[in-house]
Amino acid sequence: MPPETLTIRRPDDWHVHLRDGDMLRAVVPYTARQFARAIVMPNLSPPVIDTAAADAYRKRIVAALPESADFTPLMTCYLTDISDPADLARGFKESVFTAAKLYPANATTNSAHGVTDIARIRNVLDRMADLGMVLCVHGEVTDPEVDVFDREAVFIDRVLAPLLRELPELKVAFEHVTTEQAVQFVESSGSNVAATITPQHLHLNRNAMLVGGIRPHAYCLPVAKREKHRQALRKAATSGSPKFFLGTDSAPHTREAKESACGCAGIFNAPFALESYLTVFEAEGALDKFAGFASEHGPRFYGLPLNEGTVTLVREPSEVPSEIGGVVPFHAGEMLDWKLA
Ligand code: NCD
Ligand code: ZN
Repeated sequence: MPPETLTIRRPDDWHVHLRDGDMLRAVVPYTARQFARAIVMPNLSPPVIDTAAADAYRKRIVAALPESADFTPLMTCYLTDISDPADLARGFKESVFTAAKLYPANATTNSAHGVTDIARIRNVLDRMADLGMVLCVHGEVTDPEVDVFDREAVFIDRVLAPLLRELPELKVAFEHVTTEQAVQFVESSGSNVAATITPQHLHLNRNAMLVGGIRPHAYCLPVAKREKHRQALRKAATSGSPKFFLGTDSAPHTREAKESACGCAGIFNAPFALESYLTVFEAEGALDKFAGFASEHGPRFYGLPLNEGTVTLVREPSEVPSEIGGVVPFHAGEMLDWKLA
């Protein structure tokens, strides 16, 4: 008999976009209901590029939380060509920053101020390696010559592998991996290299986005790849390997911004993230691996304590609404088999 409930240590989300202002107030309750902590992406407009900006953003997030929430935002620094290693180190030592984020310039939403050449931030990366501070990486090249479906694999060869040869101790979270090449790279690297995997990349391949009509709500970056890559991700996520853990990349955009001639990249999956992941673990016969992926591997990699307390998921249908606060959520209109109690 399959189990009717699953109780795990409170989980964390190691990659989320909470936005700012009205959107922040609309979306943060969903993340706070599902997770104890989250690594908050700094790609606001303007981006969160120093300790003062991160501290102010953290306060806005806390102020937007529902009163009953027990949720800790973990802040990241948006790296630019002119990031100051001294400010970064200070922010890390004062526990304002948990990690720093590498966006290759123009790789994705609000990344225009990102890094144009990794050589330019070598002083920052040296300091991070010394501090043991995690570098969160959006791993895609932006070279217009490189096909969008190849950008992650090419990033490994051109940027990430050479970087880790030069700085073998740097802690790298290879975020939202989408390819078998990324899975293999992470598996064959040292324990200082790990990866997050989103629910959408476990559920969707590129056909799901493009066959029978173009589905803007299945579009995010890095873009979903061929089925063999989705299979490699499902195997990695459910393998029990401590190198793979939960990071939703929940990235809300309004319906109008997605359903457009030039639609934004990003999938809003926060409201049913645990339910979505759990359907994958169950289908793969790996319910026993879910707690590690959701609640243990991430904190161990970041060197943070595991959460106290538990959450329980119940085998009950969850009906995903067609729209939440003007945003179309992942799995809109579908039924999921589990419900967060
Ligand atoms: C993210 C966003 O909208 O901020 N979009 C996405 O498709 N994932 C940016 C990002 O993480 O690439
Ligand atoms: Zn993201």
